[in-house]
Amino acid sequence: MAYQNIIVETHGKVGLVTLNRPQALNALNEALITEMNDALAGFESNPDVGCTIITGSEKAFAAGADVKEMAEKTYVASYLGKFLDGWTRISETRKPVIAAVSGFCLGGGLELAMMCDIIIASETARFALPEITLGIMPGAGGTQRLPRFIGKAKAMDLILTGRMMDAAEAERSGLVARVVAPEKLLDEALAAAAKIASYSQPIVMMAKETVNRAQETSLAEGARFERRLFLSMFATEDQKEGMKAFIAKRKPDFRNR
Ligand code: CAA
Repeated sequence: MAYQNIIVETHGKVGLVTLNRPQALNALNEALITEMNDALAGFESNPDVGCTIITGSEKAFAAGADVKEMAEKTYVASYLGKFLDGWTRISETRKPVIAAVSGFCLGGGLELAMMCDIIIASETARFALPEITLGIMPGAGGTQRLPRFIGKAKAMDLILTGRMMDAAEAERSGLVARVVAPEKLLDEALAAAAKIASYSQPIVMMAKETVNRAQETSLAEGARFERRLFLSMFATEDQKEGMKAFIAKRKPDFRNR
């Protein structure tokens, strides 16, 4: 697929998707989402890629769903056309995805970032769910994911007022994992992704799957799920290699087996 709205690269074992609609502050239209899903599917099935980064420009990660594309939509056409169905596909990826966020991260842009596994933000990042100002509410998981990140009180504040939150507040609130200087954003994300990709791929994927369980199930069920997968790791060659390498004081050579 030839991409018009994103730039796709690989850096060693890291896949990099750069949202690239500068004329619209990377507003997410259907074409961009289709391209992003295609690129992510490519990285998912590429055994040489262990982690993916999604980033935007310095000015905008993404300023939300494309309002110009949405403005004239009707209910029936949206329903029949399964509007937004493809948008949440990223939450089904099994390999980790990092959102490297600079500038505006609004509406569907924030919903996209929250579907990633780690958000690394630059000091210039601004987060909001401003859908209320447009006469709608978030529709790609924002009302459900934001309270899970930052709690109900702050989520209500953001969703009902539409106000922007800066990077410091986002870090304090638990939305973002790290805040870095704008010029260091991509390097920091690439370094984190390269580290993740250097580990055993199946083990990383199982760890991601298990942490995600914590969002969906009771503590007891989650802990049982964790125990099952933890024990299953002793059936992998990578567990043997990781522990042997530790004891021999050498670097492990994980083979994803
Ligand atoms: N959709 C379509 N175009 C957008 C856009 C969006 N979400 N955000 C920005 N743009 C376009 C602007 O229309 C403008 O294009 P023109 O030059 O052709 O007029 C261009 O990007 C630059 O934007 P501004 O001139 O507005 O830039 P600014 O620096 O003055 O303001 C901003 C930046 C505060 C982000 C402002 O653009 C803005 O408020 N954007 C809309 C944000 C928003 O409401 N997002 C939520 C969308 S709804 C949603 O996401 C639904 C969902 O849950 C799935």
